[in-house]
Amino acid sequence: TDMKATALKPSNIKQLAGSPNLRFVPSNYVHSTNLNHDDDGDDSNSIPIIDFSLLTSCDPNQRSTAIHQLGKSCQDWGFFMVVNHGIPDNLMKAVIDCTDEFFNLPDEEKQEFSGKHVLDPVRYGTSFNTSAENLFFWRDFLKVFVHPHFHSPTKPQAYRDVVLEYSKKLREVARKLLGGVSESLGLAESYLDKALDLESGLQVFVGNYYPPCPQPELTMGMPPHSDHGLLTLLISNQVGGLQVQHQGKWINVNALPNSLLVNTGDHLEIFSNGKYKSNVHRAVVNNKVTRISVVTAHGPSLETIVRPASPLIEKENSPSAYIPMKYKDYLELQQSNQLDAKSCLDRVK
Ligand code: SIN
Ligand code: FE2
Repeated sequence: TDMKATALKPSNIKQLAGSPNLRFVPSNYVHSTNLNHDDDGDDSNSIPIIDFSLLTSCDPNQRSTAIHQLGKSCQDWGFFMVVNHGIPDNLMKAVIDCTDEFFNLPDEEKQEFSGKHVLDPVRYGTSFNTSAENLFFWRDFLKVFVHPHFHSPTKPQAYRDVVLEYSKKLREVARKLLGGVSESLGLAESYLDKALDLESGLQVFVGNYYPPCPQPELTMGMPPHSDHGLLTLLISNQVGGLQVQHQGKWINVNALPNSLLVNTGDHLEIFSNGKYKSNVHRAVVNNKVTRISVVTAHGPSLETIVRPASPLIEKENSPSAYIPMKYKDYLELQQSNQLDAKSCLDRVK
């Protein structure tokens, strides 16, 4: 059957993409007449690379070089790749594999986690937020709160142990990076950590599933948006699809093997009083293979009221450019609306 004119309320995209005769993208998934990826930037080579081993080096010169690079990457791109981070390759692979297995569970088993509130600790869904959107995205997701309390779906069986180990290790990397970011702002290494209560910080593990799409130029996996937290660390099954905005252009991200991709989020922009703008990025889809990404967001504790760091306001004698807001309220606001560039951050300016 010709599905072109049909508007479908999605149950999940994996199922829709798997329909035997799907040759067209249903109308309510069409975002553009021609998302021409050929026009997208290919200067992926200029994406900054941070060597994590320098950041943890005992040599003060190496460390200060790394901190300088980190600050510059936050300021110029809001995006960078991290190498030598110490997370074992096989652990990253296991994380991707069990995420894949989750999406391959029978629909009934996944449905248990659907229709949940944005602050529920295990949430499965499709698109971004089907109750706020009438134009859908080519994506299914699983969002799990893994810190300060660890949650997990019960299946697949390996999920719990694998994701627990990964999220612990990743949190250490994120905190170390944030210590460097704090120093790059002229603050003590521990300043950000204490001010935003990272000891109880929120860590959300998101598995994304983007199946092949018959007309990838018409739709998107995720719309242009910025992330709500401080730093988001991303890995994938080595299939491209992430694009970051840089100087008004979309740059295709070709990740170095086993690197971590890092986005700066809205709360780093707020904390730095606008010095480190959150990065805008999106996910595009392809017609050949399923793309899986695992995106782990690291934020303040849910109860923290975030405002620009006071030494930055005093030292630079610049007024606070953001209205203080509890992280939990911000998260709820962003996640229960449409995802639309930086529209949520604009509300606290
Ligand atoms: C996201 O921004 O959360 C997803 C990006 C991706 O899948 O690469
Ligand atoms: Fe994102």
